Amino acid sequence: MRRYSIFLSALFLTGAVAAEGPVFHLGKTPTDAEIQAIDTLADQDGKILPKGRGTAAEGGGIFARRCVVCHGLNGEGTDTPAGVAPMLIAEDKQGTEGIRHLHFATTLFSFIYRAMPMNEEKSLSEDQAYALAAFLLYRNGVIQEDEEMNAKSLPEVIMPNRDAWSPPPETSG
Ligand code: HEC
Repeated sequence: MRRYSIFLSALFLTGAVAAEGPVFHLGKTPTDAEIQAIDTLADQDGKILPKGRGTAAEGGGIFARRCVVCHGLNGEGTDTPAGVAPMLIAEDKQGTEGIRHLHFATTLFSFIYRAMPMNEEKSLSEDQAYALAAFLLYRNGVIQEDEEMNAKSLPEVIMPNRDAWSPPPETSG
């Protein structure tokens, strides 16, 4: 018994036990599809943005049909049974209200494409999501009305709040 516990302590001290870690048998290993679904959310450089394109003019009609019910006629935000649908079109085009607080336009696109309209997630086509992003960026004074948003132009948009935050420094190894 004594010898056994010495053996155990030795194991512990060498880190072998710690490195393995306890096994809790909770959760399950995500499938490749599940990992990809989460992975595509954060996409600052746009390398994995889908193909497609859209303009503010195209997005305006889609916004009226699919978004105003929760986000308000002028994108001012409303209380909904599903929670507060936040302001999407800032009144103050100088500050960081609404989506102007975002650091990257790709975040806006990803959120729309993957999570909106709430309760009908993933029902928007790539073109519709680009058009909605273009519409909201235009109405927030970030891009011009005729600027097309696509996998190349979207990551090039400089959000007004970009400099308020910078990514963590690259770690080596
Ligand atoms: C059924 C109600 C509902 C509909 C319809 C809806 N949304 Fe939302 N939306 C919400 C709610 C609630 C939130 C807040 C979610 C959260 O905080 O997790 C939200 C959040 C957002 C955000 C994040 C804003 C931020 O500042 O972080 C964006 C962008 C957005 N919605 C865009 C859209 C667009 C574009 C449409 C139309 C295609 C749409 N939503 C339709 C309820 C809705």
